[in-house]
Amino acid sequence: MKINYLELKRVTAMHAHEIQQAVNHVVNSGWYLQGEAVGTFEAEYAKYCGAQHCVGCANGLDALTLTFRTLITLGRMGEGDEVIVPANTYIASILSVTENRLTPVLVEPRLNTFQIDDRLIEQAITPRTRAILVVNLYGRNALTDTIIRLCTKYNLQLVIDNAQGHGLSLPHGTLHSAALPSPSVVCHSFYPGKNLGALGDGGAITTDDETLATLFRTIANYGSSRKYVFDYCGRNSRLDEIQAAVLSVKLKYLDADNALRRNAAQRLIGEVSNPLITMPSAEYCHDNVFHIFPVLVKSPDTLQRHLQDHGIGTMRHYPIPPHQQACYQAWAALHLPITEQIHREEVSIPCNQTLTTEELTHIIFAMNSYDK
Ligand SMILES: Cc1ncc(COP(=O)(O)O)c(C=O)c1O
Repeated sequence: MKINYLELKRVTAMHAHEIQQAVNHVVNSGWYLQGEAVGTFEAEYAKYCGAQHCVGCANGLDALTLTFRTLITLGRMGEGDEVIVPANTYIASILSVTENRLTPVLVEPRLNTFQIDDRLIEQAITPRTRAILVVNLYGRNALTDTIIRLCTKYNLQLVIDNAQGHGLSLPHGTLHSAALPSPSVVCHSFYPGKNLGALGDGGAITTDDETLATLFRTIANYGSSRKYVFDYCGRNSRLDEIQAAVLSVKLKYLDADNALRRNAAQRLIGEVSNPLITMPSAEYCHDNVFHIFPVLVKSPDTLQRHLQDHGIGTMRHYPIPPHQQACYQAWAALHLPITEQIHREEVSIPCNQTLTTEELTHIIFAMNSYDK
């Protein structure tokens, strides 16, 4: 049996006819940017997330980077100000901060949830702190009441990197519930492998903050709010019509797809029992759309080889932590033991809506037979 880590062809095939029709509709319309499909998707996705506004953009990194750019332009933060970020994340979260000449302050995660440890945040807050960037890493909610309380107490902007968390609802309700401190912004990526993935790049922000949404849209459109008039030195970062049309189709199935991911994850957790493999804890399974199913092992290469010998593809998210990357040499001397352990030991097991019962049984068998 051969099980790739994630086969996008199979993901697309689940709704191939509707996707094909949606693409054909755009192709035949002759209108490829800033048209009806983007407007429709933005309205649908805002409603889905419980937000008043959704603004599409070119990718998830732009959603984050242009959010900080917008916050700077609004005067809510400025060069050199600090943003609290989880030390274990995909590099894009942190790139968006440094790209804007803001200073990321790395905070360790909790080992049992992989998410920023909210007990460590308050001690990292200084007079220069302006925002907390929460990352719903691996599809698991990272926002806690403590973080919400700290945002209110210190008047901090809340930015949520939800690139891996489509469909996540919060303990309080939808992603944008009344309990979120205002103003807050949620940034999304529609990279093809995401739970809500396009057939190319795409991204968006959702927010209840109208001023922020309007300015973000302007900055992402060359800095222009009216044709031929440029108020800011902006960028070109747009979601295109084809991607938006595809996303509208896939959004209809997101909850059902996430339920299948959850079932797959529950089987893995319930049926893999191997002292050499640390499975996610029960706590980890709350508020989770299982974008990635992470396990920890002392020798990731050996587990990956063992699973490959059984025809099973795996991935690493991510083998080198941000503070040990060449692009952030100033952090090379930092010692962040929990972050380093996660990045050193994490292996991602296939866990998605396309897996059959037999495939899952095979993955479980192979994981239980690992004995190196
Ligand atoms: C946590 C996180 N943030 C940001 C991004 C950036 O998104 P994109 O690839 O669409 O630029 C990604 C994914 O790629 C991600 O996983």
